[in-house]
Amino acid sequence: SLKGVIFDLDGVIADTAVVHHAAWKKLASEIGIPFDDTVGERLKGVDRRASLDILLEQSPRAFTEPEKEALATRKNDYYRQQIERFGPQNLLPGAKSAIESVRRAGLKTALASASRNAPLLLEKLGIADLFDYVVDANHISRAKPDPEIFLAAARGLGLAPGECLGVEDAAAGIASIHSAGMTAVGIGQHQALAEADLLLPNVAAFDISLFTGQSG
Ligand code: G6P
Ligand code: MG
Repeated sequence: SLKGVIFDLDGVIADTAVVHHAAWKKLASEIGIPFDDTVGERLKGVDRRASLDILLEQSPRAFTEPEKEALATRKNDYYRQQIERFGPQNLLPGAKSAIESVRRAGLKTALASASRNAPLLLEKLGIADLFDYVVDANHISRAKPDPEIFLAAARGLGLAPGECLGVEDAAAGIASIHSAGMTAVGIGQHQALAEADLLLPNVAAFDISLFTGQSG
């Protein structure tokens, strides 16, 4: 039976998908690489370095390893400048109540974000204490859609993957949840989420009783 819910952060709980998007777009324009919404969508849920590699697929020239590191750092600087100002107002509507309702139902909560900025964001949003376990992205070597990060979250909660539900706004995340052997809830309208077991328009629509059969 269901014992834990594992949340993605960016685009599910925090209104940061647009901030990541804008930072990559700025970098792309500075180095003369085309960037459209299709590329933007592919970057969702993908870690910093893998995102850069996707971006550079469009590049007419090759970049050296030190150049790539500098580009990834530059993108992160742009991103950090924005989230520096973040507070509870940057939670997506309904996100905090969704997490709290899971806890009230007696289930455990974990965070499976590829972002190395996740601990900082949790503090700024004021929700760090709502999670029983937060995966350390520095210890994850295979990016979503690999199941590693969701499996690490289940292990951290002391639960079997089959006892967990994953909540994601990205196609790579839904694939990661499924390869981990968990039920996947998609958040958003995008076609890219067609594989989700249940698709909700936003996190405010997330109701744990949909899965536990209990009300309240
Ligand atoms: C999340 C976001 C991605 C981001 C990744 C790494 O998965 O959805 O857009 O690239 O985290 O974030 P970081 O903050 O470590 O660069
Ligand atoms: Mg996300």
